[in-house]
Amino acid sequence: MVILGIETSCDETAAAVWAHDRLAVNKIASQEVHAQFGGVVPELAARAHVQLIAPIVESALLEANINKRELNGIAVTYGPGLAGALLVGLNFAKAMALALNIPLVGINHMEGHLFSNSVLESGPQPPFLCLIISGGHTQLILIRNWGDYQILGRTRDDAAGEAFDKVAKMLDLPYPGGPAIDNLAREGDASYLKLPKAKFKDGDFDFSYSGLKTAVLYQLQSLDGAERARRKADIAASFQYAAVEVLIENSLRALAKNNLNQLALAGGVACNSYLRKRLQEECGKTGIELFIPPPILCTDNGAMIARAGKFYLENSQTSDFSLSPKPSLSFE
Ligand code: KG4
Ligand code: ZN
Repeated sequence: MVILGIETSCDETAAAVWAHDRLAVNKIASQEVHAQFGGVVPELAARAHVQLIAPIVESALLEANINKRELNGIAVTYGPGLAGALLVGLNFAKAMALALNIPLVGINHMEGHLFSNSVLESGPQPPFLCLIISGGHTQLILIRNWGDYQILGRTRDDAAGEAFDKVAKMLDLPYPGGPAIDNLAREGDASYLKLPKAKFKDGDFDFSYSGLKTAVLYQLQSLDGAERARRKADIAASFQYAAVEVLIENSLRALAKNNLNQLALAGGVACNSYLRKRLQEECGKTGIELFIPPPILCTDNGAMIARAGKFYLENSQTSDFSLSPKPSLSFE
């Protein structure tokens, strides 16, 4: 089975080739244009996808040493994401699949993330819990079976990555803020600021980051300029502690409540070194098997889309060519 995977839901133009039961090539072009605006500008993302999609697909096939006529199908993200950005990848995939007379498989981007731990190795086996933490999403998902999912918890406001990006902005750190906070926090004292951890009524696995973000803002405003500059690493560490511990607490509670012993991470925030270290400790103590993709498969990529496409193609579940982008596509 040879599958091309295409991902253009946000600001990464990505293409990957899955060939003969392994990942052959995984190409990602991150769009630099957004850094100057401190966040993704949807219209600029769509325009950049238009410029990047054909060359990236071509170079992926070339590097994989695959002729497009060898492809058995094309998997492409059709939602959730930015409408204009999704449209570019989906239209490209449709045109190519039509021209080659091969099946098209529309993939839910979030489901793609669920498959990210299964790209390089066999990965977790259902049932398992997946914590998807990115710039746009924060979800705890129960995978009963591949294709059968239940959202156990989600953010009620900002996504985890969005909170990292916004707090980084307050600290004058570059965009995207997650890696910058992660690095700075290594030298910081996490007990410097007392920050709130949002909790909902018993048994609820939802998240909230807007209160934490506002608390950081107010505490920053109460510090004078010199103190703020001197304590930057301590502020980053205090925020990171509060942001990450709540992810861990909710995941461990959801695992226990649902009698699960495998936890998988996905999404850009899964690159966070403090989160990785703390989860390894906690899962070690409780006998939970922990799966974390390598950083290149945490952030948006075509490999996870191709891998999800393999599952659907093998089950003969393909998409109609009338498929349109679904910016608010959910699991349920
Ligand atoms: O999954 P992703 O590449 O894109 C989507 O949002 O779909 O995730 C990007 C997010 C950004 O908010 C970025 O700041 C965050 O992941 N991120 C991190 C780290 N690396 C990336 N957050 C915390 N620590 C990191 N090391
Ligand atoms: Zn994503």
